[in-house]
Amino acid sequence: MKRLALSFSLLLVLFLYQNCAQPEGSEATASPAASTNSNLSDSAIAFKTTLYPLVRDSCGNCHDERLPFFAVASVQSAHDTLINSNLVDLSNVSNSRIVIKINGGHQSYSSNMGYQLETAITNWVNQL
Ligand code: HEC
Repeated sequence: MKRLALSFSLLLVLFLYQNCAQPEGSEATASPAASTNSNLSDSAIAFKTTLYPLVRDSCGNCHDERLPFFAVASVQSAHDTLINSNLVDLSNVSNSRIVIKINGGHQSYSSNMGYQLETAITNWVNQL
């Protein structure tokens, strides 16, 4: 009887282990890029590969936890902050608040940062 119980519990453990292992395999076959982009607006998808990497790297030290929140981990949320708080001007890129702010000497960035921001916003606009 004891042996029987032991083999049953072994089978049970094996069965449970297999159940756990399966979902991981099926997730790995899904395309990560497609699944993460599915929540984003078209404008945010263009933003994600243009301005976002620059502001996330260069401004994220502060602007992921300090107002305005335009360099946070959520691409859509960073995008919406830039648009809704008028921090970018997509119809007149050099008039964008983030460009003017940096060119005015914010946090002692060189003027090259203003230029990089302007180029990244232009690339974003060109994809819309
Ligand atoms: C070391 C911290 C720090 C970093 C890095 C930083 N900022 Fe700021 N930022 C601040 C602080 C503090 C304020 C609020 C005071 C002020 O306006 O200067 C602010 C405010 C702002 C504002 C809103 C106020 C306004 O005048 O419109 C903008 C826009 C801005 N930052 C842009 C940027 C950009 C773009 C970058 C990256 C290229 C950046 N910041 C990097 C600290 C930082």
